[in-house]
Amino acid sequence: MPPKRKASGETHPHKGKSQSSASQKPQGFKSYTLSHAYRLIEPGPVLLVSTGSLSQSTHNIMTIGFHMVMQHESPPLVGITLGPWDASFATLQKQRECVLAVPSVEIAEKVVDIGNTSAEDSEINKWDRFGLDALPATKVDAPLVGGPHVIANVECVVEDTAMVHKYNMWVLRPVQAWVSASEEEGGRMFHHRGQGIMVADGEVLDFSRRMVKWQEFVD
Ligand SMILES: Cc1cc2nc3c(=O)[nH]c(=O)nc-3n(C[C@H](O)[C@H](O)[C@H](O)COP(=O)(O)O)c2cc1C
Repeated sequence: MPPKRKASGETHPHKGKSQSSASQKPQGFKSYTLSHAYRLIEPGPVLLVSTGSLSQSTHNIMTIGFHMVMQHESPPLVGITLGPWDASFATLQKQRECVLAVPSVEIAEKVVDIGNTSAEDSEINKWDRFGLDALPATKVDAPLVGGPHVIANVECVVEDTAMVHKYNMWVLRPVQAWVSASEEEGGRMFHHRGQGIMVADGEVLDFSRRMVKWQEFVD
């Protein structure tokens, strides 16, 4: 049901807003802490980011929840937020390449633990500590994440660092992508709602036939 409109004296929503009207709650909604707004729209899926070099045994791995697709093609681009609080930051800065791995919900606990452990304060390589399989990538030195509960790996190079200083936002260009042969039909990804609360993918809804305006993006 649409919200009831005032019969008279109604102003344009963006004009002449008084202090009291600005503090009124829109019908059906309650105010939410602005600094927590990311919890409402953090899209996930939670990803693993591998950096460093497998051949030189300097590879590291961490967890991210902040990322976005930026461009389909010409070239494909992905943005990730990865900050100087991560040891991986310096490696990414130096090496300018990484792998984004998509874990399935079966290893969600492990993925959270990886995101709570730093190469800086861990004597043990996180790959060994968490029993991860490092597989050689084809276009970058950072390894792919192997194993039955990894849905995909995307080898990336750094395309643009213009927003790193201000936002810790790296624009990456995928150069090779791999999907697990066994999970192809639907490994369940999981998404971060903030505070360590995750939600796993559920039912798949196929609306591809309604994508009449966007046929070029339907296989
Ligand atoms: C669920 C989850 C999501 C995270 N998301 C991000 C993120 O989007 N960006 C980021 O820089 N760090 C994120 N982190 C923190 C890093 O994974 C964490 O700092 C990690 O210890 C870095 O490892 P490193 O110091 O070995 O590079 C996240 C951690 C968790 C548990």
